[in-house]
Amino acid sequence: MKAIEIRNKYLKFFEEHGHKVIPSAPLIPINDPSVLFTTAGMQQLVPYLLGEKHPEGNKLTDYQKCLRTNDIDEVGDNRHLTYFEMLGNWSLGAYFKEESIKMSFEFLTKVLNIPVEKISVTCFAGNDEAPKDEEAAKYWEEAGIPKERIYFLKDNWWIAGEEGPCGPDTEMFYDTGKPKCSEGCNPDCDCGKYVEIWNNVFMKYFKHKDGSLTELKQHNVDTGLGLERMTMLLQGKETPFETELFAPIMDKLEELQKVDNIQSRRIVAEHLRASMMVIADGGRPSNIDRGYILRRLIRRMTRHLNKLQIDLKETENLIDLNVENLKEMYPELEENKETIKQVIIEEQNKFVKTLAHGEKEFMKAANKAKAEGKDVIDTETVFKLYDTYGFPPEVTEELAKENDIKVDMEGFNKLFKEHQEKSRQGSEHKFKGGLAEQNEQTIAYHTATHLLHAALRQVLGDHVKQSGSNITTERLRFDFTHPQKMTKEEIQQVEDLVNEKIKEDLPVTCEEMSYEDAKKSGAIGLFTNKYGDRVKVYTIGDFSKEICGGPHVKHTGELGTFKIKKEESSSSGVRRIKAVLIK
Ligand code: ALA
Repeated sequence: MKAIEIRNKYLKFFEEHGHKVIPSAPLIPINDPSVLFTTAGMQQLVPYLLGEKHPEGNKLTDYQKCLRTNDIDEVGDNRHLTYFEMLGNWSLGAYFKEESIKMSFEFLTKVLNIPVEKISVTCFAGNDEAPKDEEAAKYWEEAGIPKERIYFLKDNWWIAGEEGPCGPDTEMFYDTGKPKCSEGCNPDCDCGKYVEIWNNVFMKYFKHKDGSLTELKQHNVDTGLGLERMTMLLQGKETPFETELFAPIMDKLEELQKVDNIQSRRIVAEHLRASMMVIADGGRPSNIDRGYILRRLIRRMTRHLNKLQIDLKETENLIDLNVENLKEMYPELEENKETIKQVIIEEQNKFVKTLAHGEKEFMKAANKAKAEGKDVIDTETVFKLYDTYGFPPEVTEELAKENDIKVDMEGFNKLFKEHQEKSRQGSEHKFKGGLAEQNEQTIAYHTATHLLHAALRQVLGDHVKQSGSNITTERLRFDFTHPQKMTKEEIQQVEDLVNEKIKEDLPVTCEEMSYEDAKKSGAIGLFTNKYGDRVKVYTIGDFSKEICGGPHVKHTGELGTFKIKKEESSSSGVRRIKAVLIK
């Protein structure tokens, strides 16, 4: 079965079981700069998992484009991917464990026709905070999984980051038929016999910053099924690179290469697809955050094209081939084909120059070491070559060999681990910030953002459009299109207008309607975002009307005094305002 058929069957199955199909959120959460990339289907649903009403109802399903970059350096082996598609279904306080397990079992065995014997499951073993999940195990047994293939594990708990909705999970594993690696081999073992295919999280708790758990007012289900992996298993393939998602590009690379290297082919194929998806959703290379990740993807791909001794001029053809192959699943690739080419090729050209600089840097360090009578190049330089110039340590080693000098790999690995740890913490921190913080202050800032948006349009004109927003408990940040710096008077007018609307204590009301009606009613929204058929529209008196998921305060009088702290440039044609509410 092809990946797209699996996706379609999944959505149809859950639709038939009362779920509404919602669109994938973009890979880059446009409205939330605090999160690097979308890494799970539940990310766009956090407010609804916490109790907000979703306009499409309380049973949802979708396919979600995801990018996880923690293991970027592992790509090239037989399983790691950065970009992947997650199929998911959600109960927002509708059904819980029993129905969720029943439906998963039915989908796997009746729709995908996986023999029951091939399925093992794991359930939460319990700890001081939450009990052993005997319930989930019971439903699995009732569905038809024999006791001996139901395992209890301590790790069966899922949360995004450190704070937020969470709970015990039950995971489904596919038995590849390989022999057990040892007596105790079970789904927890990563010898390759068991492959995880689906994760159902029973989100009934909220984990707070201080580590404590409280029960959520609604019991949710959040599931995630990795499409590439499922495709590979159903096709009896050993790696996702042999499925139709990657095979055409892998074959092409094999045809073009002058040096054979399967890891390099996988890295090129994987990173090319990931970069194309990121660019199609608006990402551009830069030196920070998500732009830096995209830069790394393109540079690593380029390096491996070099390693395969494939002319970089082929990149354009490789992009064409990928668009052809993937456009049915992702029409956005075809729609953005020219931009994708332009961005990737420009970045490659920059990188080619950087590589030349890096080699110079290397020669300088090598000559210096030699002049000092040393036979090893200093570790900092090796790391700098990796970090700044994108040199993989093996390339530096190769260069060293050619120049009759050594590289201290142990020292490099130590620095590398420290660096990796730092960036991992960084990305977790970012993820957490975007998801979990939803409290009185952030809700107030959210409403203030709507007032600010409307005020800016009134004072500066209708060309003002939101291009980003970020809220913490301390302030709001709002990016909007406007060609020049705001004058002092304009800033004052906007601030006064927002405060006037706060004083009027306007009611904040919410209505659900179709997306078309919302647009017709004059509601503003981020029209770069995809919305579902039904949306929520928040209205503040007769002052503001926006498509938005909420939540918001009930009356503007709750907001306190609004003060603009800063107005500055964000990027070309985009201004940025930072503002606070003083109670
Ligand atoms: N949110 C869960 C996961 O990512 C389903 O595994």
